[in-house]
Amino acid sequence: NKTEPTPQWRPSYHFSAPTNWINDPNGLIYVNGVYHLYFQHNPFENKWGHMSWGHATSKDLIHWQNLPVAIPEVINGDTTTWIFSGSMVRDKDNTSGFCEDDNCLVAVYTADQPNQKKESQFIAYSNDGGLSFTNYKGNPVIDLNRHDFRDPNVFWHESTQKWVMAVALPASFKVRFYSSSDLKDWQMLSDFGPEGYATHVWECPFLVQLPVDGNKNKKKWVLFVSSGGPTGSPFMQYYIGDFDGKEFKNDNPSNKLLTLDHGDSFYAAIPWNDVPNQKSTYIGWMVPQDQQTYPWRGNMSIPRDLSLKTTKDGVRVYQEPASIISATTLKTFPKKTKFSGIKTLNNGEVVINEESTFRNNSNWIEAEIDLGSADIVGFKIAQQKGEQGQVVQETVVGYDLDKGQLYVDRSKSGSGKIAENKVIQTASLQPVNGKIKLQILVDNSTLEVFANNGEVVISTLIFPDKESNAIAVFANGGTAKVKKLTLYNLSEDQQP
Ligand code: FRU
Repeated sequence: NKTEPTPQWRPSYHFSAPTNWINDPNGLIYVNGVYHLYFQHNPFENKWGHMSWGHATSKDLIHWQNLPVAIPEVINGDTTTWIFSGSMVRDKDNTSGFCEDDNCLVAVYTADQPNQKKESQFIAYSNDGGLSFTNYKGNPVIDLNRHDFRDPNVFWHESTQKWVMAVALPASFKVRFYSSSDLKDWQMLSDFGPEGYATHVWECPFLVQLPVDGNKNKKKWVLFVSSGGPTGSPFMQYYIGDFDGKEFKNDNPSNKLLTLDHGDSFYAAIPWNDVPNQKSTYIGWMVPQDQQTYPWRGNMSIPRDLSLKTTKDGVRVYQEPASIISATTLKTFPKKTKFSGIKTLNNGEVVINEESTFRNNSNWIEAEIDLGSADIVGFKIAQQKGEQGQVVQETVVGYDLDKGQLYVDRSKSGSGKIAENKVIQTASLQPVNGKIKLQILVDNSTLEVFANNGEVVISTLIFPDKESNAIAVFANGGTAKVKKLTLYNLSEDQQP
């Protein structure tokens, strides 16, 4: 039954709309201490359609305040205009001429006109702090008379002192770059692609410059693209190279595929503009797949900080839960760090959340395990056992030394529908000095696993019953040492 409420699967510290459908994050901007999150939203139904920009704000990226729809669909005679994905800039210097003060915001989005089979780029401005927007009378600002041309992502490019836009030509597997001085008049710069994975539409591109190994004098440009994965899953890839204000040049061979997240759910992520300290913090949509939820459908990932590190294979993107969450907000939730009796694990498992405070599925685990002589270590989460000790439900998050793989096994992860070919998800990974570091974020139906400081990530969905809420740490095939283990509880009733 479609309208059966599913409160047990609503995340408590990941954003979801109070009711109805959401998809991509849009218009992410940080203004005066507040993170604005706009998102693809159907205000009327719990399925895709009537696309509009929903709106919520947060100071800590955990607690969200829901606000009214900021940019609604427009219906005018036989022309319906859906507000597809896009971005937002703060036009402090009034380059656009729309601004009353330096808090003025300009949204750049795709107008999708289904009856006309057309997509073009529109702008809209807000002089009330991003609550409401006025569409520019001269829209569209870029029109190629195409059916597929979408998801403009705009940022201020310091060295050319221009606005730069990355926008997708989805079926051509290209990102097109434009620049502008006033957000209205755009000049085409160049095209990038097809490169990497190019067999499923390209969407939601963005370009950012990040320091390599934290060195501010050594920066690289990274281009991100959302696409269908090699197995048809939602999927994101990235390219590392240089951008001279005109063209993006990939450092890697054009057939090289660099994957951002090895799970089957993380998609359409974009970064916040104007985050202080030159941080790049982004958030993605956790794509709902076969299982219905009600009265909402779709939620966001945890916001993540992006960085670049030099590895033996070259420079790679690392991502960890945003440091403003892990360094501050997280510490305000109940936590448990002393785990007597589990300093060593000898071919077995130990439950770590016997106490009622932690007995639910909104937990955040930080762990470091020395593999010792074991060949598989990890956690069993959302676990329920029967009277004979048999497993009723559990999701296994493990590291398998022989296979050199981090994995999530959802074969007993709950009563929701899961596609058969996506039950087990893996990512190649090697221990560092014999140890594996794990950050496991479980939030009812959302599961994100970060390993070795964000070297690899697996994001996916699980559908456990409410009663399946034990967490066990385990080792197979030998003796492992638990070096560090902290468990935080972020359920609704613990929220400060
Ligand atoms: C990605 C996407 C975008 C588009 C939006 C429409 O999920 O298809 O390309 O702008 O969703 O909702």
